[in-house]
Amino acid sequence: MAATLNYDWNVTWMTANPDGMMERPVIGINGQWPLPVLNFTRGDRVIAKVHNGLGNESTSIHWHGFYQNGTNEMDGPPHVTQCDIPPGATMVYNFTVDQTGTYWYHSHSRGQYPEGLRQALVITDPENPYAGQYDEELVLTLSDWYHDQFRYLLEGFISVTNPTGAEPVPNSALMNDTQDLMIPVEQGKTYLLRLANVGAFASQYFWIEGHTLRIVEVDGVWTDAAETDMIYITSAQRYSVLVTMKNETSQNYAMVGSMDTELFDSLPPTLNYNVTGWLVYNDQAEKSAPAELSSFNPYDDFNLRPVDGMECLPDADYTVTLNMKMDNLGDGANYAFFNNRTYVMPKVPTLYSVLTTGSAATDPAIYGTDSLAYVLEKNDVVDIILNNGDDGKHPFHLHGRNFQLIYRSPENAGHFDASNPPPFATVPMRRDTVTLEPLGNFVLRFRADNPGVWLFHCHIEWHMDSGLVAAFIEAPLDIQRSITIPDDHLQVCSTGGFMTAGNAAGNTEDLYDLTGENRAPPPLPEGFTPGGIVALVFSCIAAVLGMIFIVWYGMAPITTQIPTRRFSDPPEEVGE
Ligand code: C2O
Repeated sequence: MAATLNYDWNVTWMTANPDGMMERPVIGINGQWPLPVLNFTRGDRVIAKVHNGLGNESTSIHWHGFYQNGTNEMDGPPHVTQCDIPPGATMVYNFTVDQTGTYWYHSHSRGQYPEGLRQALVITDPENPYAGQYDEELVLTLSDWYHDQFRYLLEGFISVTNPTGAEPVPNSALMNDTQDLMIPVEQGKTYLLRLANVGAFASQYFWIEGHTLRIVEVDGVWTDAAETDMIYITSAQRYSVLVTMKNETSQNYAMVGSMDTELFDSLPPTLNYNVTGWLVYNDQAEKSAPAELSSFNPYDDFNLRPVDGMECLPDADYTVTLNMKMDNLGDGANYAFFNNRTYVMPKVPTLYSVLTTGSAATDPAIYGTDSLAYVLEKNDVVDIILNNGDDGKHPFHLHGRNFQLIYRSPENAGHFDASNPPPFATVPMRRDTVTLEPLGNFVLRFRADNPGVWLFHCHIEWHMDSGLVAAFIEAPLDIQRSITIPDDHLQVCSTGGFMTAGNAAGNTEDLYDLTGENRAPPPLPEGFTPGGIVALVFSCIAAVLGMIFIVWYGMAPITTQIPTRRFSDPPEEVGE
């Protein structure tokens, strides 16, 4: 029954205007945008040939949430499991699908998926526990949307002109890459609505007026049905909900995605942070605007219970504690840190280092000074304790598996107290992306039974690009026994001029000599506090710009160009 699904993709620039306010370049596949929603079935083999026809940017495809058991080299992140695919080059992703549920695929190249190279993906479960309890499936993506290209916004974001690290605020929200979406429904029917947030930054509250949502899946894990009026879905999370239609057709009902504005440093007056669609029972009836809500009360996903009843794994054999913060470095820009290090991509993809360093592959030191590498032993039970030193919410994602969320503090709880741990969930919720509360903490648990190099990162693309990333190198000696890099992947590296062997710096002789490795900018010069940078920059901005910038740039240890901030014209009024 298992099929082989062949895709032949040309990734190119096109233009689109999904919010009706501004046409802009977007990245399409074979001349199509929005991208196709993919449908797989458990057991299928996927062979996706990806040609980079962008001309001016490298690319890659990550299959978000896929276990890639035995095929770590097909996971997608550049500098981790492959080289970035340069313009003109082609790479084949070839793997079998051994899981079910709602996923998505997206570029994992720096700052690229928010340009549109992302879409939902559904894997049908031949043993769906809810089969027979619904009539039809629908896929609904939510996302934020920027009018300016992310690559330009990124130059301004990680810059001395933005020392506080304020993230650019999206220009609008989208539902299935449009607005005012109409979904024709039939009275009395039950729909399985598969929701995926494919956005770059904003979490969204989602509700349907007059209808109850029954959550039955999160990130590929079937759950016992949980009733709610509202869910909170962060970037990269997925939910399946059962929704039963009313038995009459006099009215239509609004569905709303509402961006969590607490994530935004400012709220531009022109921003419509909601996106609305309608369940259309009756095309003749009105599609009235949704009621304004004064507060949000979404379901807490910590309380979900997997259908398989998998219990909390035994106590950890190995615990990784990550203390997270945001801070400035010597270039004056704001970066994100785990344990006082901000992630920098190694010159050699980490998986390729594993494969070419023999027994040294078990030593995290060879993977680079700023690569946040943690080596895990095969079959260990691993806990990741994450302490949030930042006052924002962050959606954290681990590649290669789902994990148990065994504890999550409320906001402002401070660091997790490992010497006096709270009781852990007995049948914990599992998923692959979870929210970390502001100044709070959580504990994830999993068994290291999937040899490979797996990234762990905040899925807010701004934070990923400012270094909020760690790399777990799971059972490196097993990786050496089980993985061979295909020739076309190596060819991509040689086309791009990337090294494929040795330590993080590409040294194959002395694996402990990292001379020439990629490094983070140096810390702030002594006596130069982040507060000083903030004050200096703000006084500069307030003063006569040209002169002061020239003088100051002459003094400061700056290596980057002055970014061109490209703020678009304010959007027109949004029709309700
Ligand atoms: Cu959606 Cu690193 O991934």
